[in-house]
Amino acid sequence: MGTHVGHVAEISAALRSGRGLVWVHGDDEDRLARSLEGLCEAPLARWDCLRGLAPAQGADVEAASLLAALRRLIDQPRAGLTLLLGAEPHLGEAAARWALREAAAAHEGCGGALVVLAEGEPPAEVEDRAARAILRPPSRAELADLVAGEEGAEPSPELISALAGLSLRDARHALRGALAAGGEPGDVVEAVLREKAARIRRAGVLEFVPPGWTLEELGGLDALVEWLGKRRDLFSTEALEQGLPVPRGILLMGVSGCGKSSAAKATSTLWNAPLFRLDLNLVFSGLFGTPEAAFHRALSVVESAAPAVLWVDELENGLSAATEGSSQQHLFSAFLTWMQEKPALVFVAATANRVDLLPPEVLRRGRFDQVFFCDLPDAEARREIAQIHLRRAGADPAAFDLDFIVTDTEAWTGAEIEQAIVEARIDARAEGRDFTTEDVCRAADALVPLSRTMFEQIRDLREWSRHRATPASGRRPQ
Ligand SMILES: Nc1ncnc2c1ncn2[C@@H]1O[C@H](COP(=O)(O)OP(=O)(O)OP(=O)(O)O)[C@@H](O)[C@H]1O
Ligand SMILES: [Mg+2]
Repeated sequence: MGTHVGHVAEISAALRSGRGLVWVHGDDEDRLARSLEGLCEAPLARWDCLRGLAPAQGADVEAASLLAALRRLIDQPRAGLTLLLGAEPHLGEAAARWALREAAAAHEGCGGALVVLAEGEPPAEVEDRAARAILRPPSRAELADLVAGEEGAEPSPELISALAGLSLRDARHALRGALAAGGEPGDVVEAVLREKAARIRRAGVLEFVPPGWTLEELGGLDALVEWLGKRRDLFSTEALEQGLPVPRGILLMGVSGCGKSSAAKATSTLWNAPLFRLDLNLVFSGLFGTPEAAFHRALSVVESAAPAVLWVDELENGLSAATEGSSQQHLFSAFLTWMQEKPALVFVAATANRVDLLPPEVLRRGRFDQVFFCDLPDAEARREIAQIHLRRAGADPAAFDLDFIVTDTEAWTGAEIEQAIVEARIDARAEGRDFTTEDVCRAADALVPLSRTMFEQIRDLREWSRHRATPASGRRPQ
């Protein structure tokens, strides 16, 4: 399982490749240093721009510049590992990049290697000389050790799950902060979850979505609900150990506002697994490092939190400008490969609106278990959706003329039905009374539904899905 593909195993494989340079993606220096110390008999040397090369030849402040340090390493290659910390900004200099290349060559075959811890990609000069590894977030076992070491913390599975996905340093801070605030073990878990949501958001392209929707709140998506419900017990460590087929992922396509995102959220609630939303627009924005680095970092966070649900919203956004050989195309093939090799207990719920932008290989067997199409709700579905949202608005559906509402909202999306109910409630409240069927219908009449403004797009979408997707409602449109 992915959670147990330790970063140590990965780094050690990179070291065994015989390359003179190992490029490690990550940001937890202490944890990397500790892992490296256990991997090599010779003492670990470090370079940083304050201390220079230490302690191999005794602190060598003269080698405080990266270039000087690399020159020394070219002249006297070391048998052990040399960890270069904070080297990335210094590689802006062409001479330093070239020196790194030479130093890597000098260390090939001498039983040693240079290890660079970096957020971004290796420069072109060293790409062919570098083995790559990812410093994955800590495993559950490492997190359990962390919790055991903190006074007053109870190492419950809930607390470990709450910490999963954070770097060891962040996990320690989140845990200490939560413990300092005091309270019951449940309060500590809550506080850690809040802190995790905030940290993951700050780190960039991934968002931790707190539990929300349930299957009961999805109206009219009967086939989808049944599919998920049948697999209620299959997404678990026990099922995996018994060799049962663990669900891998679903692709939800369809009309905007018909419940795709809500279904992704309900899946995570059903399986009691944390939900992470990956924003492909942010991945490609360059705001969080190169797209590759941002993407791999995000996936490793989700893997470390497994069992988890990865929600890739608007999959087609990652592809819209994907021309041959572009970084988008490259990343997208990386994503498809990852889908095939991903840890079993990461379930992918992907959504898409613009199917014409999806390359055919996305739909190939073995990637998603099922492709569902969420169409405009039919009369039966609209009735259920209206009931759900009336209840959410604190009203009793029995007090409403549902037939009337169902007829009045023909060709409406679930989101639009919800909106009409919310507006009816606001209008009535302003007049100091409870809202009624008339309020809902008046609000509905004032709204122009998407199906009218986007008639052609919806027609094409239906046509496309007819042969390629399963209707999420279980009913074929007339
Ligand atoms: N089938 C449904 N049952 C209950 N509520 C629904 C349903 N479909 C939509 N809604 C309501 O509409 C809102 C928007 O739905 P949701 O975000 O799931 O749509 P979406 O298909 O992801 O749309 P988009 O493509 O615009 O992201 C939800 O918050 C929910 O309240
Ligand atoms: Mg959505």
